[in-house]
Amino acid sequence: MPSIFAFLFGYVLGSIPFGLILTRLGGTADLRSIGSGNIGATNVLRTGRKDLAALTLLLDLLKGTLAVLAVAYWAPGQPALYAALGAFLGHVFPVWLKFRGGKGVATFLGCLLGLAWPAALAFGVVWLTVAGVTRFSSAAALAASALTPVVLIALGRTDAAVLFGVLAIILWVKHRSNLSRLLAGTETRIGRT
Ligand code: G3P
Repeated sequence: MPSIFAFLFGYVLGSIPFGLILTRLGGTADLRSIGSGNIGATNVLRTGRKDLAALTLLLDLLKGTLAVLAVAYWAPGQPALYAALGAFLGHVFPVWLKFRGGKGVATFLGCLLGLAWPAALAFGVVWLTVAGVTRFSSAAALAASALTPVVLIALGRTDAAVLFGVLAIILWVKHRSNLSRLLAGTETRIGRT
């Protein structure tokens, strides 16, 4: 399978804005006018709907995993990396939302799960530890994503480490407002509005 098809398949899957769709079905006109304005699970939680936040997390994660595993099944090898790249960029820059999508955390993890599950496990442990201590979803995501390329190198997955290094940089750039708030001491903790 040519890499461009793997990328486009991943992009189309990744661009489905589950947080926006689910909250709209739940009666919230536009999630982007609430809290941080993000379309991810952390912001869905700010609508007061824990069920929809959990479902958003699950579906934003699974679209990345599905993109990677489906492509790996049909075309083993490199194309799965292009599917991961497409799914992540689809979530962060969806054409349907004028390229203004989410911050990419759940889809980053979902792609990682499909490509190297031990690294996804490490991501989960770091995320839960940092979130448990600080109650900052953003800080947890920043720490876990930064460590991912290091874990992949330790696992001998250099190709994936390069890809996730690039994805982590994009994820950090998308979290620049969170970073500013963390540094200013004004970041919102999990479950707070
Ligand atoms: O997954 C995004 C999270 O890291 C931050 O979300 O809504 O607090 O900007 P939010």
